[in-house]
Amino acid sequence: MKSSLFLLLAAFCGSIANPLLGLVDPACFVDRSVECPNSNVTFWLYSNSTRDTPVQLDPLELNPWDFQPPRPVKILLHGYTGHRDFAPNNHIRPALLDNEDVYVISIDYGPLVRYPCYMQAVSNLPLVSRCLAQLINNLLERGIVQHELLHVIGFSLGGQVAGQTANYLKRKLKRITGLDPAKPLFILGSNSRRLDPGDAEFVDVIHTDTLGRGMMRPMGHVDFYPNFGPLQPGCLDENPSDPGSCNHERAPRFYAKSINSSVGFWGRQCSSWLIHIFGLCSTQAQQALMGYHVSEDMSGSFFLKTKSDPPYAMGKLEDTDNSKYLAKFRLNQKHNEIDNDFELELSESLPELEDNELDTDELEKQLIWQEQEALDEPLFKSSL
Ligand SMILES: *[C@@H]1O[C@H](CO)[C@@H](O)[C@H](O)[C@H]1NC(C)=O
Ligand SMILES: *[C@@H]1O[C@H](CO)[C@@H](O)[C@H](O)[C@H]1NC(C)=O
Ligand SMILES: *[C@@H]1O[C@H](CO)[C@@H](O)[C@H](O)[C@H]1NC(C)=O
Repeated sequence: MKSSLFLLLAAFCGSIANPLLGLVDPACFVDRSVECPNSNVTFWLYSNSTRDTPVQLDPLELNPWDFQPPRPVKILLHGYTGHRDFAPNNHIRPALLDNEDVYVISIDYGPLVRYPCYMQAVSNLPLVSRCLAQLINNLLERGIVQHELLHVIGFSLGGQVAGQTANYLKRKLKRITGLDPAKPLFILGSNSRRLDPGDAEFVDVIHTDTLGRGMMRPMGHVDFYPNFGPLQPGCLDENPSDPGSCNHERAPRFYAKSINSSVGFWGRQCSSWLIHIFGLCSTQAQQALMGYHVSEDMSGSFFLKTKSDPPYAMGKLEDTDNSKYLAKFRLNQKHNEIDNDFELELSESLPELEDNELDTDELEKQLIWQEQEALDEPLFKSSL
């Protein structure tokens, strides 16, 4: 049973970001500098009145007047091949500025995550995270922004940057949102490399390309799985040659629409995605609103459907009673470990990795090692 399901799932994996593609490309580099601020990691401040003329922030020379009057500060992190106008920025920044009195800081670390250098991009993330932590530590220490008002939103590799930033912060963040946090080269290794619930007081995650670029396993206090994840409605039409990239980008699109949705993206709780595939979730379990307005009292995994076109949301789900049917299976509602085992198997069998005869465990070890090195830097010793 398990192996046939596995084959079915593996069939979806054709378009994964291949971590080995740029391994020998001379254009690919790992930035060995430990200097923050760093010219390859820049910070751009937007408000409603400076949408087209953002202020570039100098983390060492912050101007308190740039943050007057006090408002919530939303920090956006792009992913692989991105920049400050790329997803999630292009979707979420205008939606935020249209609907709320906020400041948005878009980070640009594009030079460090260029195509086809995925592996090097992953190796560059600790540097990005340290520089972001420096900015945040300084904003808080100087009293320019209040801790309660900060919210970091990261897409793909940016989701993992958000998690790694926690390693260097003097005070734990109030909230991190992970939008389809990146999977390749993040499955193994410790949580310090990945987004996890320890990284902020509240971590909410949306998974939209679970068999490709994004993580399957739950990573936050609350995890949402729109359309379960392998194929988002509309993506085969929108991008027939690479539906995975469309799936992946649905996370920031849904999030942007959740900011002012009249009906809301409501998901229903279920113990795990595997239980969900087999149709064994209770259809009376509690519902939670996904996205920007998620309740911080919620925890667990939630599943929902969306439409194929904007504004995507389908509103609340109708409760029906399937308890008699479920009673036959005696499910343990809390057991989620099977997800992680499954994800490992899936990644280890990726044809691209096997063809290259490269030891992926070895790659992961190297990355972890590099990061340990970075963690040992005295620059931002956490005082907590
Ligand atoms: C959401 O959009 C509607 C118009 O569709 C607007 O009336 C309302 O003020 C908006 N809500 C917020 C919080 O901006
Ligand atoms: C943004 O500015 C426009 C005018 O430029 C104004 O009409 C709108 O209400 C402002 N939006 C917010 C959320 O303050
Ligand atoms: C920034 O990236 C470029 C390549 O785009 C690299 O040559 C340079 O050394 C990097 N600069 C710093 C300060 O890290």
